[in-house]
Amino acid sequence: MIFFEEKRKEVMKHIEKFMLEKISEYLKPVDTIWQPSDFLPDATRETFFSEIKELQESAAGLSYDLIAVLIGDTITEEALPTYESWLTMVEGVSKDEEGGWMKWTRHWTSEENRHGDLLNKYLFLSGRVNMRMMEVSTQYLIADGFEIGTGRDPYRNFIYTSFQELATNVSHRRVASQAKKDGDTLLSKMCGVIAGDEARHAKAYKYFIEKIFEVDPNEAMIAFEDMMRKKIVMPAHFLREVGLKVGQTFGHFTDAAQRLGIYTAIDYVDILKELIDDWHIESVTDLTETGEKARDYIMNLPDRLLRVAERMKNPMLEYKFSWING
Ligand SMILES: [Fe+2]
Ligand SMILES: [Fe+2]
Repeated sequence: MIFFEEKRKEVMKHIEKFMLEKISEYLKPVDTIWQPSDFLPDATRETFFSEIKELQESAAGLSYDLIAVLIGDTITEEALPTYESWLTMVEGVSKDEEGGWMKWTRHWTSEENRHGDLLNKYLFLSGRVNMRMMEVSTQYLIADGFEIGTGRDPYRNFIYTSFQELATNVSHRRVASQAKKDGDTLLSKMCGVIAGDEARHAKAYKYFIEKIFEVDPNEAMIAFEDMMRKKIVMPAHFLREVGLKVGQTFGHFTDAAQRLGIYTAIDYVDILKELIDDWHIESVTDLTETGEKARDYIMNLPDRLLRVAERMKNPMLEYKFSWING
């Protein structure tokens, strides 16, 4: 066990070097990256109220399910404090403020922070949302935290974040195209730029795992298998509304996303396949017997999950969220 932990620490020391190096490649300069105000009505302009009116007119055309998904996505983004504190709790990494892990975590958080900020302001102005109800859910989600099965392990954390950034990319991208279809080009643009950020983040986390596979393939494989056996749960799986118990709203949110084709069981499989390809799982060498078994499990998983996904019926149950007026 001592050996195992020492090796993890050594590998992470090696990886943190890349985390420092790659900040400027995978994250954008603060001064020039987009900010929420680039997309929102500007209160210092005379045209402010007419801009809001225009925003509300296009938001009026968004379907109920799309608004529900957008609110769920926004709350997920706004629970960022949970994710940052969880990243800083990981063991086997340097807690030096200027070290790779801590610096990356802060810079990543600073980019992510814009997502919830932009979506929240949009929803506030849209006139479609019961903001108080949404805010209660956000506060609950941060207070309730999450349990995503990574423990304090940096490998499992990076596998989770690789998966999750890809999933959020899909989801924001699809909301963008659905919003466009519904006639809301502003929302479409907003979700498009957010999706772009998520894609960059996914590349970064995938790269870090790729580097881990280079130096510790067996443990990386076992960590990947373990995360897939547990299933990658969404960070908002504890989502709830006022008066409800932990997690009671989450299923309705994912039903709406599945119904609209924003994020589906097939997307889950596609993301898994992408990770298998990008990490060259098929050709990883230097595996022990346990590592080989882990690889077998992973390689067979997409087909198995696809069969399950194909049998799944589209959830038809309509649900009235307290977040949405009317
Ligand atoms: Fe985000
Ligand atoms: Fe993200």
